[in-house]
Amino acid sequence: MIQALRGMKDILSPDNERFEFIIETASRIAKRYGYQYIETPLLEETALFKRSVGESSDIVGKEMYQFIDKGGHDVCLRPEGTAGVVRAFIQNKLDKKGGINRFFYYGPMFRYERPQKGRLREFHQFGCESFGETSVYEDFTIILMIKDIFDALGIGYRIKINSLGCPECMPGYRENLIKHLQDIQDGLCEDCQRRIETNPIRVLDCKVEACQNLLKESPVIVENLCEECDSDFNKLIEMLKSHNLPFELDSKLVRGLDYYTRTAFEFVSDEIGAQSAIAGGGRYNRLVEFLDGKPTPAVGFALGIERIIELVKMPEAKRDGLYLGIMEPEAINTILKLAHIQRQNQKVYTEYNKKSLKAHLKAADRLGVKKCAIIGEDELKAGEIWVKDLETKEEKRIAINQFN
Ligand code: HAM
Repeated sequence: MIQALRGMKDILSPDNERFEFIIETASRIAKRYGYQYIETPLLEETALFKRSVGESSDIVGKEMYQFIDKGGHDVCLRPEGTAGVVRAFIQNKLDKKGGINRFFYYGPMFRYERPQKGRLREFHQFGCESFGETSVYEDFTIILMIKDIFDALGIGYRIKINSLGCPECMPGYRENLIKHLQDIQDGLCEDCQRRIETNPIRVLDCKVEACQNLLKESPVIVENLCEECDSDFNKLIEMLKSHNLPFELDSKLVRGLDYYTRTAFEFVSDEIGAQSAIAGGGRYNRLVEFLDGKPTPAVGFALGIERIIELVKMPEAKRDGLYLGIMEPEAINTILKLAHIQRQNQKVYTEYNKKSLKAHLKAADRLGVKKCAIIGEDELKAGEIWVKDLETKEEKRIAINQFN
C-alpha cells in the first residue's frame, strides 16, 4: 500500500474542523488589523531562499526540498512564507508605490527536518507581513494581533522577546561574540564550531547543554545595541508591560532565519512538548532591499497550525443542517428536488439506501444535523414527509409542499 511520505500527513476529522477554525479566526482578526489576503506559489527559485533565509541557516543548508525542474531551473518548495511575499511585493512594484501594505497568507511549507512530535516535513502556517512602517508600534501591534488570535482560539502562551540590532550595532557585537566564541571554541559542539565562521549569532541558541553552559558569559546583544535600536526595544518592552502581556526577555532568541533586524519574538506553549514555538516573527528591515527592491522596512510573523491544533478550544458544536432520507425508491425525485431547494439556504445531507427509520436516525444523529426528514411508503402515498427535530425531539408528518 502506498503511504504518505514520512513527516507528511492527511488532515481528517476532527482536526480538519480545528484547522478550518484556526484559519477562519486568524483571517478574520488579520482583516480587522488591515491585512489583505495574498497567495504566492509553493514553488520558487532556490536563489530566493538562499538570499533571504540565508545560505548558512539550517533551513537552506539542510532542509530544502530542492530540485532541478524540466526546464533546468533550480527550484524548491517554499520552506516558509515571508520570502515569497517579499518577492511578490517587489515583483508587483508595490515597493515603488510606497505607503503601507499588509498581507496575510496561509498554506503548506516544506522542510526536510527529522520528524518528531510537532515537527513535520509538510506543515501549515498562517502568517502576516507588514511593509512600509518603520515605527516599533507596528511590531507591537503585530504582537497584539497574535495575542488576539490566540485568545480567540483559547490558547495560552508565553512571549519571548529579543532585539537583533541593525547594521550599525550588529557588526561590533558580532566581532565581540566571535572573540568570545573563539576562546571557548574547544568545548563547543561541532555545529557551533562551524558556525563561529558561518553564522556566529546562531551559536547562541544551540540546544546542546554543554554549549549553553559555556555560553553563559557570552556578550548579550541587547546590551550592545545602538541608540535607536535600544530606544525601540525599550519602547516595545514598555508597551508589552502596559498591556500586561506575558513576556520574558530572551537574549539567546536569535531565530533560525537570517533576515531579522531589531525585534525578534516567539510565542511558546508549555503544553505541547519540546517543539514549543507556536508562532515566531520579527522585523526584517533589510530584506526587501536585499532582494533588489526599494529599501522598505517590514515586520511579520507566522504561526504553526499543526502545533496549535490540539490546543484550540473549539466553540461548542451546535446541531446544524438537514438530513433527507428515503425508504421508498420511488421517492427519489421528490427528495432530490427537496434537497436542491433546501441547499439554497442550509447544509443538506441526502441518504438513499437505508431501509429502516432507525438506521436513518442513527446516521442523522452522527452527522450532527438539526433536522431529519424521511419519506417512506406511507408518506409517499399521502404526499407527506416525516420530520424530526433532533434538538427538541419533536416529530411530525407534514405535506411535502409545506416543508421548509
Ligand atoms: P519560523 O519560526 O521558522 O518562522 O516558523 C513559524 C512557526 O511555524 C513556528 O513557530 C512553528 O510553530 C511552525 N513550524 C516551523 N517549522 C515547523 C515544522 N517543521 N513542523 C511544524 N511546525 C513548524 C518563519 O517561518 C518566518 N517566515 C516567520 C516570519 C514571518 N517572520 C517574519 N514574517
